[in-house]
Amino acid sequence: MSLEDTDQDLNEQVFNKLVKVVHTHTGITLGSSKKIMLQARLRPRMRELSLHSFESYYDYLQSHKEEGPYFVDLVTTNETYFYRTPRIWEYIENEYLPNWFQKKQNVVFNVWSAAASSGEEAHTLGTVFQGFKEKHPAFQYQIFGTDISLEILSYAEKGQYSGRAIEMFKEKRPDLFQKFLKPDSNGQFSAIQEIRSRIKFQQHNLFEKPKFKTQFDLVLIRNVLIYFLGPDQEKVLSQVCLSMKPGAGLIIGESESLNRLKTSFSYKMPLVYELSSETEDAKAGKAS
Ligand SMILES: C[S@@+](CC[C@H](N)C(=O)[O-])C[C@H]1O[C@@H](n2cnc3c(N)ncnc32)[C@H](O)[C@@H]1O
Repeated sequence: MSLEDTDQDLNEQVFNKLVKVVHTHTGITLGSSKKIMLQARLRPRMRELSLHSFESYYDYLQSHKEEGPYFVDLVTTNETYFYRTPRIWEYIENEYLPNWFQKKQNVVFNVWSAAASSGEEAHTLGTVFQGFKEKHPAFQYQIFGTDISLEILSYAEKGQYSGRAIEMFKEKRPDLFQKFLKPDSNGQFSAIQEIRSRIKFQQHNLFEKPKFKTQFDLVLIRNVLIYFLGPDQEKVLSQVCLSMKPGAGLIIGESESLNRLKTSFSYKMPLVYELSSETEDAKAGKAS
């Protein structure tokens, strides 16, 4: 067989088998329109492994557990950028945060960026919080970013950004951009050390029970639910709420909604929900 054999198309049968593996590993449901995309993403990996058909890649994946993380990196879509959906950042900065701070001045504000990708969302949170901290020095915050893909998290940890990742932020928030993002000699921008020291990244699959100790005051789970079917979205949200404080806020992405789902969240405003306190009673009941 020649290398060109990897150019053969992914047939329906193997596609369907791979769709199942994608779902098992990530919870993502790929529709039939994603066949070309899957083909294009798997081909370079197949060449690396000298596997000449999608069927042989499928067999390899089944028999080599260590291939799982590479597969996850390939099948996840990691698009993100600073200050995505400006109205949400305005809401966090001008309403959510001041309200929270007014009530709880002496505790740390804990926020979870629950599908952090390469870290742009977590770093945007950092600049907004640092700006707030300048006005209110007693304010303390911690940002936690998680994602299923180890590869994308390695970029989040480096925290170096340029081009499209920072374009909108630069334009909409020149104040925060100039104050808190600094260029290096290669033209890459990074957050100042004080912000970086308050952000931690960790791998986490949203379908698993959170293992972290922190109970969050605010969770951003944006542009990830869209990849899951309704019952899977419900599963994810039932895990996420285990790591939230009573009344904590939940922010979703622009193309997402919890309208038709059974969850413990109540609607506050478009894209913003709140963990209902009954869940806390339920949690207490479960724990006792
Ligand atoms: C499109 S990005 C969203 C990034 C950011 N939240 C934003 O809105 O700009 C979706 C991210 O979800 C992650 N993801 C997909 N399935 C996941 C799962 N089961 N658990 C955790 N993260 C997942 C992907 O790896 C990807 O980085």
